[in-house]
Amino acid sequence: MSTTILRLRHATDPGWARAVLGDVDAFLQDHAHNERKVVQAALILAAQHHQHRDLVAAMLELAAEELSHFQRVHDLLAERGKTIGQDQPDPYAGAMHKLLRKGDVHEYLLDRLIVFAVVEARGCERFQLVAQALEPGPLADFYTELFKAEARHHGLFTGLAQRIFGREAFTARLDQILEAEGAIVRDLPHRAALH
Ligand SMILES: [Fe+2]
Ligand SMILES: [Fe+2]
Repeated sequence: MSTTILRLRHATDPGWARAVLGDVDAFLQDHAHNERKVVQAALILAAQHHQHRDLVAAMLELAAEELSHFQRVHDLLAERGKTIGQDQPDPYAGAMHKLLRKGDVHEYLLDRLIVFAVVEARGCERFQLVAQALEPGPLADFYTELFKAEARHHGLFTGLAQRIFGREAFTARLDQILEAEGAIVRDLPHRAALH
């Protein structure tokens, strides 16, 4: 049940990886903030849904792993003589946030788990593209490792959503959110950023 593979509806355009290679430092800075935001979001989810013990345990583990990713991106930037930089607005995150149905606590949790899963799946796709676009070396190896981690993470969220809400409710909403995410990505300008 926990290994549902998400099929993203819109494959990232090759122009996106070219934009990343055009400013790898800016990409790393944006990536660092993305890792930080996942840590924060996972901890908030755990605090708000303390009655779901398996969710809390999974979020604590995830937050620790994402924090280690944040640390490593920070260290890579430091080696390049850079800081993590200032957090920039992320139009993808803003648009994904708007998909959440906030009126009902159950719908809201289902949507958050699915949005989390889809965002991790998109990260997985894009880290793999970065790994393939970079010259072979430590940075490409790092992104290969991360793409495998994101593949695990999206399965974690689809598994939780199915266990808590049942397969039927999960699949119906997943379909809608995947469709919406595909349209969001299709319209995004290419930037040296994860989204
Ligand atoms: Fe990560
Ligand atoms: Fe992740």
